[in-house]
Amino acid sequence: MSTPRKLFVTTALPYANAGFHIGHIMEYIQADIWVRFQRMQGNEVHFVCADDAHGAPIMIAADKAGLTPQEFVARIAAGRKQPLDGFHIAFDNWHSTDGAENHELSKEIYRRLRDDAKLITTKTIEQFFDPVKNMFLADRYIKGECPKCGAKDQYGDSCEVCGAVYAPTELKNPYSALSGATPVMKSSEHYFFKLSDPKCVSFLREWAMADNRLQPEVSNKAKEWLEGDSGLGDWDISRDAPYFGIEIPDAPGKYFYVWLDAPIGYLASLKNYFAKTGRDYDAFMADASTEQYHFIGKDITYFHTLFWPAMLHFSGMKVPNNVYVHGFITVSGEKMSKSRGTGISPLRYLEVGMNPEWLRYYIAAKLSAKVEDVDFNPEDFMLRVNSDLVGKYVNIASRASGFIVKKFAGKVATEWAVTGDAFLDTLRGAAPEIRALYDQREFGKALRMTMELADHVNAYVDANKPWELAKDSAKEALLQEVCSRLLEAFRILTIYLKPVLPALAAQVEAQLNLKPLQWADIVTPLAHGHHINPYAHLMTRIEPTMLDALFEPAPAASEAPAAEAAVGIEELAPEIKIDDFSKIDLRIAKIVNCEHVDGSDKLLRLTLDVGEGRTRNVFSGIKSAYKPEDLIGKLTVMVANLAPRKMKFGISEGMVLAASAADEKADPGLYVLNPWPGAKPGMRVR
Ligand code: 2FM
Ligand code: ZN
Repeated sequence: MSTPRKLFVTTALPYANAGFHIGHIMEYIQADIWVRFQRMQGNEVHFVCADDAHGAPIMIAADKAGLTPQEFVARIAAGRKQPLDGFHIAFDNWHSTDGAENHELSKEIYRRLRDDAKLITTKTIEQFFDPVKNMFLADRYIKGECPKCGAKDQYGDSCEVCGAVYAPTELKNPYSALSGATPVMKSSEHYFFKLSDPKCVSFLREWAMADNRLQPEVSNKAKEWLEGDSGLGDWDISRDAPYFGIEIPDAPGKYFYVWLDAPIGYLASLKNYFAKTGRDYDAFMADASTEQYHFIGKDITYFHTLFWPAMLHFSGMKVPNNVYVHGFITVSGEKMSKSRGTGISPLRYLEVGMNPEWLRYYIAAKLSAKVEDVDFNPEDFMLRVNSDLVGKYVNIASRASGFIVKKFAGKVATEWAVTGDAFLDTLRGAAPEIRALYDQREFGKALRMTMELADHVNAYVDANKPWELAKDSAKEALLQEVCSRLLEAFRILTIYLKPVLPALAAQVEAQLNLKPLQWADIVTPLAHGHHINPYAHLMTRIEPTMLDALFEPAPAASEAPAAEAAVGIEELAPEIKIDDFSKIDLRIAKIVNCEHVDGSDKLLRLTLDVGEGRTRNVFSGIKSAYKPEDLIGKLTVMVANLAPRKMKFGISEGMVLAASAADEKADPGLYVLNPWPGAKPGMRVR
């Protein structure tokens, strides 16, 4: 065995002004899979993250919320654990860039850059000032047209369209995003990191262009930035008070720009974690064999491939071994914006009871080592997970373990396995390739290979038909052998899937009565006579109704950062027979019109088309939840054979179905049912 690697791994630090969106979760899943894979190899991995706490946006948001920035950030931090645990993201530590370690490290790095490397300089610059708000405008509070590509409404530091990074003063037609006012120029002394210094440029060329370092797309970008006509400009690293950040040593009233101390937060979180766990941070970072990796999104490549390595190198610190850049996540092809997120809320996903490992699997299946966007397509998601995980993988265990438990008292017969076995060797033989694919972050390919192996196993089931063998008492030994071989195959597949499906793998380990599986266990088959536990259901299928729930507008509460208490459900009504149910005629109805009812604060008047060649008039107590214009044109479900009822405002010819919580205080919402696309007015719901 080779000596274990020592790895320090991070994901980008999310701004502490909002909960996670699906883009964060995708990045964490990617890094988490890689980390779990490395741990399964026996490598030592330290995986940390933190809140990116500083900067003007957080200061302004805190102010709006009537909180200090520290209180504001603490509230956001309190909401991190639930979704991280929910998606099985196993960070070793979660810290904050406002922690003491980061204040110290940032000042230390700055002093070294200033005193040892002589790379800090000051310049008096003219800067935008908001004459209405009476403050210098942080980059993100100035908007205008990108100086490089002309895209409108771009922020003052970088362009989301072409990726250019620039000074806010370079924007065309600037305006203050705080007040809308046209900003005025005012001068102030700023601190700069001299990135234009030839020694910086030559270091970065060497670092960024090194063979097998950056992904080809990333290295091309870096090359463009380094060799472009404008070259590297000096980097403005100071901001004037009022600012939420770290004060610059010997410069009263000046603070580090948030992007200076944010990546230092990687080190601060590691340091904090090492202190808490009694490890030696300095020794670990001084060790030349320690490898450092950062997983990031493509929008922050510039900061991580230029500023960050230069800061580290010229302050005498370890530089990153690599920066792994991923694309964005789109939902049904639609791009999400950093501020709006997407149609999928991670908390909502968990709240509606969807299995986090479905998402882990789907995202992993779509990830490669390229800087490509990943699309979440609901239909494709359902088909892929149901067919691969439930249809191909979980099925193997459910087909084999029942016989072993029932007929053979849970004992496997595996004398054959130790001596080599063509069927199992196919499965074992794939290990080096799957391992290399995981290591290279080619998760999609690794899973495709694994599913091909699962196909191979299912073909074996079909060829050997254990259910037929079970009918013939003369074939008992063969039945035990076939099922044992299937369980061994299942065990190997579980190892291949474990980085992606850690919770499922733990269930399998419990059922197969095994210690936590490591990669090296591939070659150690189930022992002859090993005793397994009865099969319990491992994973259910994704149902279309769950996707409906996922894409319904989320109740406001699910956006709140703090964890919510679970609420019990209403008690079930007494059992009925299917005949009782079929007495109720439910139909798809189209809401052709909807209006307020004069004099009623509860009711809306709906005009429904149930395909009868006439419309029906129905009163529904949903005024608190819907505006008429939101319902017109939508499909819903109605009770179509309810006797007409005379009400104060007229006759109601049916009833529209809506869900509500038992405890109105926990959730006052009313949720009208909406069929899956394709349903037509008049169709019966049964
Ligand atoms: O883009 C962002 O969301 C930043 N908060 C990422 C910072 S990564 C690191 F430098 F801290
Ligand atoms: Zn641009």
